[in-house]
Amino acid sequence: AWTMGNVIDDQVAAIRAQVGDAEVICGLSGGVDSAVAAALVHKAVGDQLTCVFVDHGLLRAGEAEQVERDYVAATGIKLKVVDATERFLGALAGVTDPEAKRKIIGREFIRVFEAAAREIATAGDVRFLVQGTLYPDVVESGGGTGTANIKSHHNVGGLPDDLKFDLVEPLRMLFKDEVRALGASLGLPEEMVWRHPFPGPGLAIRIIGEVNQHNLDILRAADLIARQELTASGLDRDVWQFPVVLLADVRSVGVQGDGRTYGHPVVLRPVSSEDAMTADWSRLPYDLIARISTRITNEVREINRVTLDVTSKPPGTIEWE
Ligand code: XMP
Repeated sequence: AWTMGNVIDDQVAAIRAQVGDAEVICGLSGGVDSAVAAALVHKAVGDQLTCVFVDHGLLRAGEAEQVERDYVAATGIKLKVVDATERFLGALAGVTDPEAKRKIIGREFIRVFEAAAREIATAGDVRFLVQGTLYPDVVESGGGTGTANIKSHHNVGGLPDDLKFDLVEPLRMLFKDEVRALGASLGLPEEMVWRHPFPGPGLAIRIIGEVNQHNLDILRAADLIARQELTASGLDRDVWQFPVVLLADVRSVGVQGDGRTYGHPVVLRPVSSEDAMTADWSRLPYDLIARISTRITNEVREINRVTLDVTSKPPGTIEWE
């Protein structure tokens, strides 16, 4: 019978058999899949595993800390953090085209991860790379496996030829809800286990306009308010994703106190979905939308207008870029 205990025991045994005494690395993204995969491997081979977290500076408020502090505290995993914010923001300066942003982020990610992997590899015999591939990913890609690439997180190709790893994919037979249950029983932080899907390029594709520290700070503040209010309303698990999008290239006139403002709008984009292929806009309660709107315009000086996206997918996509 399928029980969580069995899954953990079976996977731990399988990982030990596959890996032996070799060293293993795993890239953490902040998402649930890589976090659960790494936790399982750690349970199996302990400090033979080194995790790498490339902080590209494009995560939401509190997410880097969640990985660096809460996740490490919960698992005891050996973690190498690379703060690459300046590098990513440098490469993204002046870029507004969505696909150009994706390409740059994917390219920089590979470079930074590769450098970190090389440093770890020179310290030991690293032969394996952990990936949080799920069953739906396996089916979608025709069941193939083989040499490493840093999966769909950044939608880009593999590592260079001299950095080939064998893959460890302990979640290959599991669906998302099973992965969450597994994460919970492995004692991972609640917010991590229940995190909504979040794109690899992060907030960069939720800023319509240039990705810079100023715009990131504005979006992070607004996004945090939306997440706090959604959580407080108890509706987290009814919503598939809740992007907040900053229209950095748009300004509109407003009034606050005695003064005219000329600020930026944000778009609230809560959606319901089963698999992100299609989606519908979430009918969130108006009083929740109102609280979010009031708080954002009160607390984030640069934002003077909050709008709601009521487009399904298709024809809209979930993200605005
Ligand atoms: P769209 O916007 O195409 O998104 O409806 C479908 C799902 O994919 C996520 N998404 C991405 N994930 N890299 C990712 O890892 C990306 O470049 C990317 N673009 C979109 C999106 O958040 C949604 O879950």
